[in-house]
Amino acid sequence: MEQQTLITDIAADTLKGLSSNPKYLLSKYFYDDAGSAIFQDIMNMPEYYLTDCEHEIFLSQKEEITLAICPGNKLFNLVELGSGDGLKTKILLKHMVEKGVNFQYTPVDISAKANNELVESLKTELPALLVEAKTGDYFRKLKNLNGHASIPKIILFLGSNIGNFSDKETDAFLNQLSAYTNSGDKVLIGFDLKKSPKIIMDAYNDPHGHTRRFNLNHLVRLNRELDSDFDITQFEQHTIYDPKTGDVKSYLVSKTEQKVHVGAIEQDFYFRQWETIFMERSRKFDLSAIEKLAEESGFKVVQNFTDKRNYFVDSLWIKD
Ligand code: AVI
Repeated sequence: MEQQTLITDIAADTLKGLSSNPKYLLSKYFYDDAGSAIFQDIMNMPEYYLTDCEHEIFLSQKEEITLAICPGNKLFNLVELGSGDGLKTKILLKHMVEKGVNFQYTPVDISAKANNELVESLKTELPALLVEAKTGDYFRKLKNLNGHASIPKIILFLGSNIGNFSDKETDAFLNQLSAYTNSGDKVLIGFDLKKSPKIIMDAYNDPHGHTRRFNLNHLVRLNRELDSDFDITQFEQHTIYDPKTGDVKSYLVSKTEQKVHVGAIEQDFYFRQWETIFMERSRKFDLSAIEKLAEESGFKVVQNFTDKRNYFVDSLWIKD
């Protein structure tokens, strides 16, 4: 058999990112098992207000959200992209089941483990709910769902995940969402709002060191999966927030001039002292920017659900 060189996505993306000037790594690779556990620590710390805000919105406005998303008495499909453990969504699901709303729930997640656990928990917590989980890439799954065009779709994309996209990725994501929805379908998207820079910096530059560990774990993952030799003691994590653009940017900074070897792709990468690796963007929005995004991608804002401090919004859009 002919010898094949298999290069995984993470290897190809790492090669591209570390060969670029300035260097970067993709934030989607934060979430191996250890990274997901550290992200739980981030979500549990008091400074990371995002989770609490969205939880508050679902808890205090489940009735209003249900009324706004339901297309009359018709059966509809509630699709959740990146459903994870579905913790916040369960508040809404429970309310909708209790009210006898006619819907089915389709959680879509890249992790089979997360999907199985969610489905199992829903069997005991909400046995009457119709659930059909899909494991895999958002868009391949959405495309398939569009085959059932006769059933209206309500798509949830919660947790400010949209803030981690570049502008180009945001446009691509929203245009694809637009392509796979029909007139009258709705989307509910979580956006973190601009607020005092101090509050934002506390959430992303936390005193517990969770955000630092979260970033460094990316290098630990590369050492394990790509046979690289990053010395994590030689990198420092640094976060900046620009209140004008709303961008939180996270970097790893090389403390020394150093060479790192990545065995899986047989490449050496050179770092100058204080050279940066861009790790993640966590964009903060204002309502006018959200409205513009909706309109540019063929949607209209129907209603904004905010928490009582106006830190976070779940914005409901309808397809024209
Ligand atoms: C997953 N995402 C919305 C988080 C955020 O707030 O951008 C990831 C994160 N990075 C550092 N802290 C949290």
